[in-house]
Amino acid sequence: MLLYVDDIMPGMQLESAIALKAGSYLITPKEAPDGLNEKFIDSIRRFSKQLTPLPDFVNIIENESTLAKLHEVLSADIARVAEAVKAGGDTPNFLSDGELEEKVSRVVDKVLANPDVIREVYQFKNAFREGADSKTALLDHTFRVTLLAAATGVKLRMSVVSMINLVIASLMHDMGILRSEQYPALQVLDEFNDDQLQDFVDEHTGHSVETFKNAGMSMLPQTRLDIARTIELHHRIDLATEKPRSPAVVLHLADLVDEVIGPQPHKLRYNFSREQLRILGTGMAKRNGTNRVILALVKLYRKVPVAWDTVVAITELFGQQELTIENYEEKLKDILDICPHAKQKPYPSLSGGKVPRMVYCNDLEQKYQCEHRGQSQVAIQMPSGKMVQFFKCGTMTNRLVKLNRESKPNGD
Ligand SMILES: [Fe+2]
Ligand SMILES: [Fe+2]
Repeated sequence: MLLYVDDIMPGMQLESAIALKAGSYLITPKEAPDGLNEKFIDSIRRFSKQLTPLPDFVNIIENESTLAKLHEVLSADIARVAEAVKAGGDTPNFLSDGELEEKVSRVVDKVLANPDVIREVYQFKNAFREGADSKTALLDHTFRVTLLAAATGVKLRMSVVSMINLVIASLMHDMGILRSEQYPALQVLDEFNDDQLQDFVDEHTGHSVETFKNAGMSMLPQTRLDIARTIELHHRIDLATEKPRSPAVVLHLADLVDEVIGPQPHKLRYNFSREQLRILGTGMAKRNGTNRVILALVKLYRKVPVAWDTVVAITELFGQQELTIENYEEKLKDILDICPHAKQKPYPSLSGGKVPRMVYCNDLEQKYQCEHRGQSQVAIQMPSGKMVQFFKCGTMTNRLVKLNRESKPNGD
């Protein structure tokens, strides 16, 4: 199997001679009968750009120790993505509960112990070596979706079997993009019309299913069908035919959320169908903050029991359960309409990734006498990075705190 030069370890055996572009061989298997030693590895790395047919790659015999090394490489990648999630930023920290994180990492690790999974995911990773950011975005998206899907599965108390199927499907859901006509210039999607986008969706989901089937993982035929179906439906799913808490529902929603809030190689977001965009507005066909995507899901799925508990699980993981309050946005707007001078600012803002907790008064010069302005001040960081002190709006902040409290079952 092809190994990236940085992943080669002493003791690994060459599967074939290492050829150089100049036409000669760097090392043949006969020269290293006991496997590669430090000296060999050093020269492979020195000549890595001269290797042929693929620079930076060497054909190594697949055995237990090779697979163990690749397992280590992939685990480190997933751990890196998990750390980025925990640091917050684009994605809310959905791994803040240590016990939940432990369960997530146990199930992901169990799946990654499967040699067929290692082989496929490692190959997928190799496609992004030395990739520009636009390419690595897809790899990190895959790992984040896997972690979010698994975390949602834990929250929903899915069975271990369903969780394993969900993690396999998550890891493989976008592998077909590598075989799509548009890859790697995925920015072209920004120019696509609805039909072309649908073709791209059908094509890459189909290719991902094929990649999964060709991996030949040993499993029951029904399990294979379930995983293939979960991969196939990751963008377009008919919820009427789904079972609640099915891996297909969870992967669809986890992928959708990450697609909308995370970086992608293209500006367009195509996870909401055109029918859904008619309800939500075309603004949801581009990158949005977490609040916006959660509010969109609440709007679409409040009355769809099959999806609703998954939506609630994700909002709880994100610490945004307030957004599941019926008509939250409208209720917030009613509160903000109290301001007679249009100087009200909810904070944090609804366009970001945190639920608004208070309202401040943007009338810095105090041009208006206002009965609603409170005594307490708050320091807000401006886009320039500068901290500015504002007065809180007493009336609106009180009402917002009361509104947010509605999400707590016992009202506190
Ligand atoms: Fe996809
Ligand atoms: Fe995806």
